[in-house]
Amino acid sequence: MLCRAAFALYYVATYAGLLLRSPPWAAASDIVLATRGMQLPNERSATDDIVGGVAGVADPRRYQLDSDWGETFGGKRPPTLAVVNVSSARIRVLDAPHGVSPGQARFIPARSDCAQRIVFTGYKHAARKHGIVYCQNRPTGIFTSGLDGDDVKCLYSGSVRSPRVTPSGQALVFVSTLVGGPHASTSKLVYYDLGTGVASTIVPIINQPQELPQVLEGTRLPGGFPGLYLDQLPDNPWLQVDSSPQSEILLFSSIWRSTNVVLMLDIRTRVLSLHTPVDGTSSSSLLCVAGNFAVAKMSTPAQPEALVLGCATPSACGKEVCITWHHAQKPVANANVSWRVVQPSSAEKRQSMECIFVYPTAPDHSTRYFWPDASSPDLRPLIVMPHGGPHSTYTLDYSTLVAGLAKLGFGVLLVNFTGSLGFGQHAVHAQIGKMDTMSIDEIQQAAANIHASREGDAQATVYLGGSYSGYTGALLAGLVPGAFRAYVLRNPVIGIAENAAMSDIPDWCWAELGLPYDFESPPVLSPDVYAKMWHASPSRLVSKVRDPLLLLLGASDRRVPPPQSMSYYYHLKAAGAPVECKMYPSVGHPLDTVEAERDSFVSTIRFYAAALNKRTGGEQEL
Ligand SMILES: *[C@@H]1O[C@H](CO)[C@@H](O)[C@H](O)[C@H]1NC(C)=O
Ligand SMILES: *[C@@H]1O[C@H](CO)[C@@H](O)[C@H](O)[C@H]1NC(C)=O
Ligand SMILES: *[C@@H]1O[C@H](CO)[C@@H](O)[C@H](O)[C@H]1NC(C)=O
Repeated sequence: MLCRAAFALYYVATYAGLLLRSPPWAAASDIVLATRGMQLPNERSATDDIVGGVAGVADPRRYQLDSDWGETFGGKRPPTLAVVNVSSARIRVLDAPHGVSPGQARFIPARSDCAQRIVFTGYKHAARKHGIVYCQNRPTGIFTSGLDGDDVKCLYSGSVRSPRVTPSGQALVFVSTLVGGPHASTSKLVYYDLGTGVASTIVPIINQPQELPQVLEGTRLPGGFPGLYLDQLPDNPWLQVDSSPQSEILLFSSIWRSTNVVLMLDIRTRVLSLHTPVDGTSSSSLLCVAGNFAVAKMSTPAQPEALVLGCATPSACGKEVCITWHHAQKPVANANVSWRVVQPSSAEKRQSMECIFVYPTAPDHSTRYFWPDASSPDLRPLIVMPHGGPHSTYTLDYSTLVAGLAKLGFGVLLVNFTGSLGFGQHAVHAQIGKMDTMSIDEIQQAAANIHASREGDAQATVYLGGSYSGYTGALLAGLVPGAFRAYVLRNPVIGIAENAAMSDIPDWCWAELGLPYDFESPPVLSPDVYAKMWHASPSRLVSKVRDPLLLLLGASDRRVPPPQSMSYYYHLKAAGAPVECKMYPSVGHPLDTVEAERDSFVSTIRFYAAALNKRTGGEQEL
């Protein structure tokens, strides 16, 4: 359809290797390199301003600081919208509105009263850019413009993303989350009528999930629906169920308690329905939609992702549309690993806290080392592993790390403390300002529950965490010495105030303490705010640490930069604490290069082996 418009719209973004060869201060030369051989628009010069033997050397803009979008965008150029007419090979670079980086652009088809236009998400920045990856609370807007970049309008401001034009071309739907505060929380879905210019909420923010189906904002919601927790809508979310081109059925996935599910929203009938299980048996994420087919991946903690093909049919099954899922490949089970979702006891009254316990079920050649007496589950070593964020969730999705640890004989306890996504907006906010107390209590309680059910060895319980859960680990090491036999902390937050000065998301440091933060005019660190950050930071407890502690750091981490952990490491070493530190060059916050994943897994296992007094050497050498 878009091809028929003889147009292509794309970013001359920052990724193309081509761009790296252009001098980083000369925006126009990107176009030359990226579109070599094409005619350039007259209004932009294709050459450097400075012509000479070494073009650009004298350019005053050469070393000018132009901040990027932080973690995972390090050194990337500002995104630019360009419209290419593929018939004439003409390219037009559009001017972005002042203080806005454009992204997620698509065409809005011409309507009777309106020519073809462009819609895009505008990422706003004032004095500085704030990192955007893993953050759904950024000031953004849904913008439209003419094909020449003229007549720019901001249709909707807030923290918005994923604009999608409805099949009729008459409206947009997009996702919206509260600006500021927690970096991720419950989202709503907005319907914007392009004809009338009226925006309405079609799936609202859910504060507290209700057991029974309910109608809110005119949409019927299924029982138990906890609200929307999704990063982006699928590229094409529209399911075409019958021969009627008029159907407007949106398909997407979202977190629902401890799992990912596929949800369907019929825009015409205003019915939201669930199309994959929420019974704790698997996790499903939608990959793409084409016609009446959908492709998703399904997995469990013991079974790697398998592709499933969904076929949608109008039906008599009670819902308006049925999706039948077929396995496109035979699921491969990871033998001898099992799992269960651990609910909080009613006495704990922590509605929003839940855990997933993944464990080896039978002894085999790989479990012998850490769990030699496999007939006794209470002698199984236990790894307590809360998630990062803090506003994120462990779902039943397969994780190589977790399955690998279980195959080595460990029980692995994935802790979703209060503040996790998938349990309603109240659960997200319940944790704000309490990160140095509430999470700490819940993590210990979660471990104690496994000890009490005699499924893990209290004498052989270790800790694994990263980012926020690296923070809670370092706090536990200082506050409750002896609570764990060893700690492995991946890019932990060690000093909140230090992080505030270095992180690409300084707002996190204010927001998680429940303090106000203004994106347009970031606050200066005052002595009283510093005192609050200091009090909640593991760095102040450095002299209390006595349990073995391994720090795994990414040298290029922009989110939680390593200097705070390095300084912690030097202090621990000076105090004679059993600390080790690894620094992975050119690796960012998730430590997710192949080499960093390999080395961090092996280092983690070796560190636990030493801390649990396992022999290293001889036939059992790790
Ligand atoms: C694209 O270029 C072709 C060939 O020059 C021209 O006929 C057409 O009108 C252009 N399309 C638009 C939308 O400008
Ligand atoms: C994650 O935590 C939430 C509450 O914060 C809970 O409802 C959910 O079931 C948990 N999921 C898992 C897999 O533990
Ligand atoms: C699972 O455990 C059984 C019993 O200990 C063992 O014989 C089998 O080899 C194990 N399977 C795998 C795939 O490790």
